[in-house]
Amino acid sequence: MKTKNIIFMIIIVFALQGLVIALIPPPPVDQRIGVYDSNFANFTEYKCRGCHTAGVPDDHHSLVPTGEYQCTNCHPVLPNGSGITMVRNCMQCHDTTFNGMVVPRPHHETKDAQDRHCSRCHGNLVNDYDDNHIIRDGPPSSMTPDTKYRAINTTSGRKWGGCEACHEQNTTLEPPISFNNKTHHRLGSLSGFNPQNSSKCAVCHGNHSSPYGSDYIRYCEQCHGFESLHSIQYDFTNTSGQKGYGHIGDGNFDCNGCHASYIAGEVAPGASVITPVINNLSTSKVYAEAVTVLTINGTNFVTTFDGVMHTSVVIVTDGINSTTLTPDSITPSQMVVTMPALIQEELYGVYALKNGSVKSNKLPLVSTPLVKVSFANKIGTTITINGSGFGLSYDPLYSDWYNVTIKNGDISRNISITNWSETMVVVTSTDAASGDIATVNSINGANSTTVTDG
Ligand code: HEC
Ligand code: HEC
Ligand code: HEC
Ligand code: HEC
Ligand code: HEC
Ligand code: HEC
Ligand code: HEC
Ligand code: HEC
Repeated sequence: MKTKNIIFMIIIVFALQGLVIALIPPPPVDQRIGVYDSNFANFTEYKCRGCHTAGVPDDHHSLVPTGEYQCTNCHPVLPNGSGITMVRNCMQCHDTTFNGMVVPRPHHETKDAQDRHCSRCHGNLVNDYDDNHIIRDGPPSSMTPDTKYRAINTTSGRKWGGCEACHEQNTTLEPPISFNNKTHHRLGSLSGFNPQNSSKCAVCHGNHSSPYGSDYIRYCEQCHGFESLHSIQYDFTNTSGQKGYGHIGDGNFDCNGCHASYIAGEVAPGASVITPVINNLSTSKVYAEAVTVLTINGTNFVTTFDGVMHTSVVIVTDGINSTTLTPDSITPSQMVVTMPALIQEELYGVYALKNGSVKSNKLPLVSTPLVKVSFANKIGTTITINGSGFGLSYDPLYSDWYNVTIKNGDISRNISITNWSETMVVVTSTDAASGDIATVNSINGANSTTVTDG
């Protein structure tokens, strides 16, 4: 287990290094914070597992007890009875159909996304349209950023005065960094391209007869208000005087990127609580009913701005109920929290909440039952095994993984299962004896005990 974890950590380290491209200053910008700026179409199983690092089977198996799905839906039995289907590539199901099920594209078909509450997952790298942030009305001034750029320096080729000054595409990287219209246009039904629904364009654009055109920055400001934009800076503590790490680093380079003609000489207004970002969790799977110490790596968990220190707590939420956890230790780049036992079988999200109001991005965390056999009692030919986390029911078609064994050394006893519930399995056996080892294998794991006479 330990070596497995270490190997896993090494893989993570390489995976993260793959994402961090040392191109300072932009364009294109580094990919240290937020979601990698690519198209959904470029997402592969490997990318999904970058955030869903562990507990993917459990994510799915938690849907069985709710009665929504059965084993057969996702693991159909092969026609010749030679086994069951085991698909591991996310994209073979998500965003397509599998075994007659229409499995939606993830994330952007959720209610939060459709309701334009993007900050629920992206944190305060963006605003929500209804969070009362300031959007100045009136015409753009000479310093208002453009969605693309305002000016181009013919000698250096550098753009000024808009997002495209830094957020440019780079098709030579793997996966490629996409242009801003691509990252925003491929969000499933949210974008209005697929399926076609032109009313959705208004999420980000005005109509063509709008006084300042359909690409006017004011529409973008519904999500990219100046306060959230002025609070984006990777590793603020160490980079605030340097250019290319965000929006408020080196004054003239960074401010001019958006403001073109504007000469910096002051602190960007609205900036104060620099947005924290989580890069990874030490695990994305925990056992229900167990206390877990979770290490959270990222950036800007504590920062000092204008002499005032802002610090974070950790929120664990299932979308309805939230638990607030005060870290045992905190540095700008790491928090350690002791998580109390969570309830069984659920998909949670974890994020940092800074200064009581500013959210980081969210990462998934699944809580799964721990399989525990407390005793196995034998009376006559009946053996009753008690414990927890066995799973709700038994299906002989899936008995390769989901079963009970009773063994004396290497010798397997003949058994037949007569009853199966979450906390108790009853088997009959004519040859089992006290002193044998009884094991329950369930989709949640396996555990054993010694058979005793009851
Ligand atoms: C349920 C969580 C969730 C919600 C809510 C959500 N997103 Fe996302 N978003 C993600 C995840 C995860 C990714 C990366 C994987 C993917 O593309 O599906 C992503 C990727 C993106 C990207 C591509 C990022 C990039 O630039 O590389 C954009 C743009 C985006 N989301 C916009 C939005 C908008 C706009 C909303 C609100 C209308 C929104 N998201 C709501 C989880 C979410
Ligand atoms: C909603 C879909 C879904 C349902 C329902 C489902 N599974 Fe799975 N199962 C999956 C997916 C997806 C994986 C592969 C996960 C991965 O590769 O990380 C998986 C993996 C597994 C594995 C391998 C676990 C591992 O650690 O690699 C077993 C065993 C399994 N399922 C058995 C079952 C049984 C038995 C049932 C019924 C009680 C069931 N599954 C119901 C989707 C499902
Ligand atoms: C065999 C088909 C299949 C495969 C392969 C598969 N999924 Fe799923 N997944 C499903 C289905 C079906 C659901 C339920 C969808 C729903 O109800 O909207 C689901 C739901 C989920 C959920 C939500 C679970 C919850 O508690 O609500 C997550 C997270 C998830 N999948 C992630 C993944 C990831 C990551 C992979 C790849 C590593 C993957 N899936 C591979 C079929 C699959
Ligand atoms: C940037 C991190 C990130 C990446 C990459 C990512 N996910 Fe997720 N995913 C999340 C988070 C966070 C949640 C939980 C959201 C919540 O709390 O509602 C989630 C939830 C889900 C869900 C359940 C909610 C839903 O949207 O229906 C599914 C299914 C899912 N992910 C599948 C995938 C698949 C498939 C991929 C690869 C294409 C993927 N994820 C890549 C972060 C990520
Ligand atoms: C001076 C260069 C510059 C300009 C101009 C600029 N950005 Fe950024 N932006 C950055 C850098 C650098 C980062 C940090 C990227 C990283 O390390 O991941 C960033 C990060 C972001 C992020 C969070 C993470 C991500 O990459 O998705 C958002 C959202 C964002 N910028 C939006 C905008 C918008 C909207 C505009 C135009 C109004 C804009 N930016 C203009 C340099 C710039
Ligand atoms: C989630 C936000 C979002 C949605 C929804 C959206 N767009 Fe865009 N769109 C953008 C961004 C970001 C850009 C790039 C900035 C720019 O070009 O002004 C863009 C650029 C464009 C451009 C200019 C492309 C170029 O290369 O100059 C057109 C045309 C466009 N969008 C049309 C649409 C249409 C039509 C819809 C609806 C079917 C739509 N957009 C929906 C965010 C969005
Ligand atoms: C409905 C909300 C919403 C609107 C409106 C919106 N964006 Fe975004 N934007 C997002 C989200 C969410 C992200 C991804 C942040 C992350 O990486 O976590 C994003 C990211 C960005 C980034 C960083 C690079 C990238 O692609 O991730 C730029 C630049 C950007 N948006 C420009 C624009 C422009 C220009 C417009 C207006 C044409 C616009 N956005 C409208 C939600 C929105
Ligand atoms: C990512 C783009 C971006 C960057 C980088 C940026 N700003 Fe801004 N800033 C904006 C936007 C958008 C507005 C709103 C413009 C408007 O309403 O016309 C704004 C508004 C302002 C305003 C006017 C605020 C008000 O009350 O209306 C000032 C002053 C300002 N910025 C200063 C700065 C300084 C100083 C920096 C560099 C440290 C900076 N900005 C960097 C996007 C940016």
